[in-house]
Amino acid sequence: LAAGVADEVNNPLGIINNYLELLKLKNLDDDGLVKLEKIQKEIRRITEIVGSLLSFSRLPRKDKSEVNLVELLEEVLLLLGHRFDRKRIKLKKDFQINPAWITGDENRLKQVFINLLMNSLEAVLDEGVIAVEISKSGEFYQVKVSDNGHGIPGDLEESVFQPFFTTKLTKTNTGLGLSICDHIIKAHRGKLSYESIPGEWTSFGVRLPWASRPVGP
Ligand SMILES: Nc1ncnc2c1ncn2[C@@H]1O[C@H](COP(=O)(O)OP(=O)(O)OP(=O)(O)O)[C@@H](O)[C@H]1O
Ligand SMILES: [Mg+2]
Repeated sequence: LAAGVADEVNNPLGIINNYLELLKLKNLDDDGLVKLEKIQKEIRRITEIVGSLLSFSRLPRKDKSEVNLVELLEEVLLLLGHRFDRKRIKLKKDFQINPAWITGDENRLKQVFINLLMNSLEAVLDEGVIAVEISKSGEFYQVKVSDNGHGIPGDLEESVFQPFFTTKLTKTNTGLGLSICDHIIKAHRGKLSYESIPGEWTSFGVRLPWASRPVGP
């Protein structure tokens, strides 16, 4: 996404931080010190956010290859398995189409489904159910990731795909997840959308064009 931008943000931040360290050596009064530390705290926050951008964009780019979506989803689910177990969440899989070949960047597509599943895992409570299904419609495969969590209120429709938009009050959620997903899916000539009934369920759909030519053995 933004490796270049992230570096450009990090460099001036480093310089600001150095000057703040120099300022600390002056005889500041307590009030001055407290304010200075607040500034440094916020700088650390920006650095963390930028760090998450970097860690994303440094994912090794695999050039386009034929990817079986079902296999990819199985791998992602395996990776997140312990999170399902820890919250005792029920996983429903419906992979009736196998293989489901598309052309794309395997690592980036994994990132998309990890982000969507993490969102579902974070939205459900006890008795949570998360469903992953794949279907074919027209020239697309459609993967749906659904959950019976808290849902998305109608007035957030415009916001959820915006970078840095989050309703979560944690340090680790940056609000970049869905904007990254949207970016990756568009780069694959696909579409990311969702439906939700607040308080009941949410379902994110990823449409990806199937590979145009049949894949050899
Ligand atoms: N499955 C879901 N159920 C309910 N709300 C959701 C779901 N997925 C996304 N949202 C809402 O959309 C917002 C933006 O999601 P996004 O993944 O971009 O950021 P985040 O999860 O808050 O942070 P990050 O992904 O960086 O950890 C969330 O904060 C949440 O309010
Ligand atoms: Mg998220």
